[in-house]
Amino acid sequence: MANLTGKKILLGITGSIAAYKSAFLARLFIKAGAEVQVLMTKAGVEFISPLTLATLSKRHVYTDISSEESWNNHVELGLWADAMVIAPLTASSLARMACGISDNIITAAYLSARCPVFFAPAMDLDMWRHPATQANVQRLQDFGNHLIPVGRGELASGLVGEGRMAEPEEIVAYLQRFWDKVQSLAGKKILITAGPTYEAIDPVRFIGNRSSGKMGIALADAAARRGAQVTLVLGPSSLSPRESSVQSVPVQSAEDMLAAARNAFKDADITILAAAVADYRPRETASHKIKKTGDTLKLELVKNPDIAATLGQEKKKGQLIVGFALETENEMDNAREKLQKKNFDLIVLNSLQDKGAGFHYDTNKITILGKDNKIRNFELKPKQAVAEDILDEVEALLISDV
Ligand code: C5P
Repeated sequence: MANLTGKKILLGITGSIAAYKSAFLARLFIKAGAEVQVLMTKAGVEFISPLTLATLSKRHVYTDISSEESWNNHVELGLWADAMVIAPLTASSLARMACGISDNIITAAYLSARCPVFFAPAMDLDMWRHPATQANVQRLQDFGNHLIPVGRGELASGLVGEGRMAEPEEIVAYLQRFWDKVQSLAGKKILITAGPTYEAIDPVRFIGNRSSGKMGIALADAAARRGAQVTLVLGPSSLSPRESSVQSVPVQSAEDMLAAARNAFKDADITILAAAVADYRPRETASHKIKKTGDTLKLELVKNPDIAATLGQEKKKGQLIVGFALETENEMDNAREKLQKKNFDLIVLNSLQDKGAGFHYDTNKITILGKDNKIRNFELKPKQAVAEDILDEVEALLISDV
């Protein structure tokens, strides 16, 4: 039985036939000890009576943004809540949230909410599959909101497929898991390297790579949400962490990254090396912009330090290191070799052969390999969800090492 004692939950109900399940959901939240404040769109009211929900929640249900009583409430409610859950979320309310259109009480409260937001979509399978819907789901996830995945099965249209709202029990379990994890890394110091490195050729040119830093930043945010003290050594990236507690150390070259990482590594309990470090750098960096004089230009490159291997050698008892491997062939063997050679405890393998995985994508498909040779395969998912999977594995290792 879930325990949500004292949690304040804003429950948004939009106009889908799945709204009848929201009464069960409100009931389950309350049984688990939560306080529930229901908000409904006009379309939601067509499917289930506010009276039912007011009776269950023992609170007035807000359905109107422009009435006198609720005019200021969307701001207050957004600040009051420990979590906002929109279930069911229709395609049109999803689109409003994705675009920040605050023309109803739910989307207005959503824009004011400082708490974690969870959304459980419900729609017909073609609406769900439409690129507009998928882009909106992605957008909400990019805002840091949590998707409670849709189920498969018979839909109100009679069609069978994806688009069913998650069952109320699953939604409650989802929140419970979220809160259970919240402080699971409290007291832990985590060092994360992320992004590319730029190796200067002259003051304006460099050798770099296509890493966006998304995976490492998602890891830093997820670890911070779990209560860890995170140092993010970040190569040149247009992105930055969302969580204000993450301490970012911006670096340019592999040598800068090594110095910053070594500094933080001394105290780190857990180190995750997600950076795509350039293997070579120009032997010389010209102090002035190189002129276009000859038909060819020779650059001599020298090997960069291997940050992972250096930290691996310096690793003390009780420190954990997680590495990444991006392979195009003999993936498993190469990953296994790297795990050993660099003294990692876990290695996260992502293959460029998997569609949607790797550099610049918002999604990733990983396999995690441990020193014990245990292999765990994961589905293609948003990088935020991949980060949670990686941290779950790290936590499992912490427990087994105790
Ligand atoms: O050897 P390879 O580059 O495939 O190893 C990948 C792993 O090693 C990643 O975790 C990456 O961040 C790390 N690495 C590093 N310093 C380097 C090269 C790789 O930390 N110079």
